[in-house]
Amino acid sequence: MTENLRLSKKIGAIAESATLKVDAKAKALQAEGRPVISYAAGEPNFATPEHIVEAASQAMLDPKNYRYTQAIGLPELREAIAAKTLRDSGLEVSPAQIIVTNGGKQAVYQSFQVLLNPGDEVIVPTPFWTTYPEAITLADGVPVNVFAGADQEYKVTVEQLEAARTERTKVLLFVSPSNPTGAVYSPEETRAIGEWALQHGIWVISDEIYQNLTYDGVKATSIVEAVPAMADWTILVNGVAKTYAMTGWRLGWMIGPADAIKAAANLQSHLTSNVNNVAQRGAIAALNGDQGPVEAMRQAFDVRRKTIIAELNKVRGFH
Ligand SMILES: Cc1ncc(COP(=O)(O)O)c(C=O)c1O
Repeated sequence: MTENLRLSKKIGAIAESATLKVDAKAKALQAEGRPVISYAAGEPNFATPEHIVEAASQAMLDPKNYRYTQAIGLPELREAIAAKTLRDSGLEVSPAQIIVTNGGKQAVYQSFQVLLNPGDEVIVPTPFWTTYPEAITLADGVPVNVFAGADQEYKVTVEQLEAARTERTKVLLFVSPSNPTGAVYSPEETRAIGEWALQHGIWVISDEIYQNLTYDGVKATSIVEAVPAMADWTILVNGVAKTYAMTGWRLGWMIGPADAIKAAANLQSHLTSNVNNVAQRGAIAALNGDQGPVEAMRQAFDVRRKTIIAELNKVRGFH
């Protein structure tokens, strides 16, 4: 007899985003006037830089932004993303390889949807951002956690990846800088992991959303910069949320080889269509405009980072 379930079993199994849940609680307490500082969501507390807001304000007055636009994103924005990707990830891509999404979160979701078949395994360096396992499960994949603790600076090694690899391994999730640990893989470590993936025909989903927020002179190396041949096997995920203090604007993107991007574009054409045109115009100003405010925010985060580390290290038993 078929089971008569009132709601979908698959959706019923999803856990609510823990980060958003804690964040909502913190915001509710703040609204009551309680002195709460939330570290739940990765959300800059700065206002979006003025020139970005101004570009969006102008866009609101222009009727061409009132209509549906291409589901994959405005051509001018995809040009700006291509230039940013060359600048920061060392990869030359054509705008046709880019899809603008409703935040990096949609890019993560769509990446797993287009790559996974039922039972495919995804290696997830742990600790991880809570959305990943849910997005994998929703695509009928199986998350395989590989733990990297403080003793290894929260970075997985090729030996660990090899030990976790099975004939069902389809994707490695690579997040550098990492949420939640902040770990940044060195160029050598990135190259070794990229070469391992290439050797075994394993896709990499590389979440680069924290790429511009690094400290102490460290630069995050993109996996496609370290191993250029991986460009055919990598989907880059990124967005404006963290770098430009634009979390609420909901604008991210995915970049990849033609077949994966075509599949994701088809999916998005039925799911959400184009991202809000006003937000897209703001993102063009963010990517093409003055990067001074980004550096000012980064320096402020650095001061806070050093303060909190120094204070926490004063707590006995806390490292
Ligand atoms: C590692 C990581 N990737 C992607 C995202 C998605 O960001 P958004 O959907 O706001 O662009 C987040 C947000 O917290 C994140 O921490």
